[in-house]
Amino acid sequence: MIEIKKGMTKKEIEEYIDHVLNQMSLEEKVNQMKGKRFLFKVIEDRGVGKRTYDGAGSKRFNIPSFEFTDGPRGVVIQGSTCFPVSMARGASWDLDLEERIGNVIGRETRAHGGNLYGGVCINLLRHPAWGRAQETYGEDPFLIGEFGAALTRGVQKHNVMATAKHYAANSIEKARFKVNVKMDERTLREVYLPHFKRCIDEGCATIMSAYNKVRGKYCGHNDYLLRKILKGEWGFKGFVHSDWMDGVKDTVGGVTGGLDVEMPRAKYYKYKKIKRALDQGEITEDMINDAARRVMRTILNYTTREDTQKYGQDLIGCKEHYKIALEAAEKSMVLIKNDNKILPLDKNKIKKLAIFGKYANVKNVGDYGSSNVSVKEVSTPLKGIKNYLGDSIEIISSNGKDPVRAKEIAKEAEVSVIVVGLNWRDEGEYIKELRIGGDRDNLSLHDKDIELIKAVASENENCIVVLIGGSAITMEEWKEQVPAILMAWYSGVEGGNALAKILFGDVNPGGKLPFTIPKDPKDLPYFDKNAEEIEYGYYHGYTLFDKNRYEPAFPFGFGLSYTTFSYSDLQVEVKDDKVIGTIDVKNIGKVAGDEVVQLYIGFEQSQIDRPVKLLKGFTRINLKPNETKNIKIEVPKKNLSWYNPESKSWEIEQIEYTLYMGGSSRIDDLLSIQFHL
Ligand code: BGC
Repeated sequence: MIEIKKGMTKKEIEEYIDHVLNQMSLEEKVNQMKGKRFLFKVIEDRGVGKRTYDGAGSKRFNIPSFEFTDGPRGVVIQGSTCFPVSMARGASWDLDLEERIGNVIGRETRAHGGNLYGGVCINLLRHPAWGRAQETYGEDPFLIGEFGAALTRGVQKHNVMATAKHYAANSIEKARFKVNVKMDERTLREVYLPHFKRCIDEGCATIMSAYNKVRGKYCGHNDYLLRKILKGEWGFKGFVHSDWMDGVKDTVGGVTGGLDVEMPRAKYYKYKKIKRALDQGEITEDMINDAARRVMRTILNYTTREDTQKYGQDLIGCKEHYKIALEAAEKSMVLIKNDNKILPLDKNKIKKLAIFGKYANVKNVGDYGSSNVSVKEVSTPLKGIKNYLGDSIEIISSNGKDPVRAKEIAKEAEVSVIVVGLNWRDEGEYIKELRIGGDRDNLSLHDKDIELIKAVASENENCIVVLIGGSAITMEEWKEQVPAILMAWYSGVEGGNALAKILFGDVNPGGKLPFTIPKDPKDLPYFDKNAEEIEYGYYHGYTLFDKNRYEPAFPFGFGLSYTTFSYSDLQVEVKDDKVIGTIDVKNIGKVAGDEVVQLYIGFEQSQIDRPVKLLKGFTRINLKPNETKNIKIEVPKKNLSWYNPESKSWEIEQIEYTLYMGGSSRIDDLLSIQFHL
């Protein structure tokens, strides 16, 4: 008989489970298929902020429970490091950084006693009004897939099981419990699933099913998504757990659909209900065995590995982790406008600086729902600037509620910084009982904020708008009236310190937008936060703008720097199973800076309906003044394929393709070259 011990091989684990399943009663098997906590406990804990939530495990067979905690802004249990939201991190385009954030999250999860991290949120941003936009990384399947994979790598290094969620097509918040999302096969395969596949290929241990329906079936019951695609075609060996507020609707639907674990407690996966369904022949014992095996296998795979370090409480929110939060905030901010190079500010030339806006000096780190990492102290913009400047410059702050007073202050100051945008009331997970979150009705700023910007800008030409939010904010009403705009996101516990360093030029901003900002919301796909049913089309974001030749206010992949980069000598090579793009990037400005080099593949010659171009590679580099780097990005040929619904397979067209490389998705920012495979 095999004993559970550290360092078990996969084969030994399967043999142990064979033995266990032979011995287990039906009730013991069913115990593997549920969380153990009551929902009222979860609500009382205000989400999952106080403790981990356990499930499965077996004392008799020595199998540990899973211990769930949430994210993605960090670990949601009190005291943890609060990072910039995922959307901000997506704007860093820095996968190494995301993996290091994953490392911190993995460590802090373990230090809190957890081993299952529910924070790899990779739903696609189809429309910026989506309330939980901040929890994902952007609008592009390739970008979010790479980020989800990086976070997974980091977290799982610490023997924590990662969860990719919410599978699938979850991108309307208020309607999430009921909406039926319709889409054709190509849209499903090419737009809404590739990022999940990417995380599974990275070894992501578990999946959380979404609340919504896809093609008429709840995702937790969706045998096509769960059994056929995830477990069948992709060969996923881990377990699927439900989302928490009735993510399972009935016993037979869940079990036959391929949902292994009901969370956070059993409502439909109770022993008696499962037994009845079995007796009536509506489910089979094989289904129960498979679910129990998946859960035990995954837990044992992770809990029997040797740890490479100790996970003491001193790790939680430690200095080293805060440093990474600071780096993430610095790397994620996107400079959207900088006329006359008004930024960076020269602290030796300013005597008086005014800072306005309702978010100038309040804690505003994002949503109050399940992603809420509650921290007591954060570096607000005002605190960050004061911390940076000390007493060297007079700082006047005002919440800006009174625009007349704001004008008076602005008149006296050399520079005005206005911090406006959104908070957890405007966007976030929608929890009716707590009256929080939901989708946005309007993509612009609140009227009061616009009034404030216009008032201040009319008196002070050195006016910098700092935007707080988790998704696209339209700016047409006021953007021409101010010289500088910086997208600062919900920037985490160190956000204000990062902002100050950027405003005064210690850090050169290098973030790029992970979504398209429209001039007019009418250019976006149809969105209805109360929809019972909605059709998701093949195009959204930059692929829709490209196809319809709409001009965005600011394109996907766009962001300015305090320096300038020039691109030259684009070349393409097709070798074995890959396409390789190379290009010279030179820093032609006066300061060092980071640039995000992007690679797109164009399908203009396609025989079928395909996007004009798609992101297929990127890298973030640093260049000193005058330095040139030859950048090489490889694209596996298989990443050029499309899903043919007739043959039910991925196919590669034999056509002339275009390879684009440059600094944003805008055609003027890219060099291009043709190639054949
Ligand atoms: C959210 C999930 C979260 C879960 C547990 C749900 O309502 O949709 O994202 O993981 O709660 O906190």
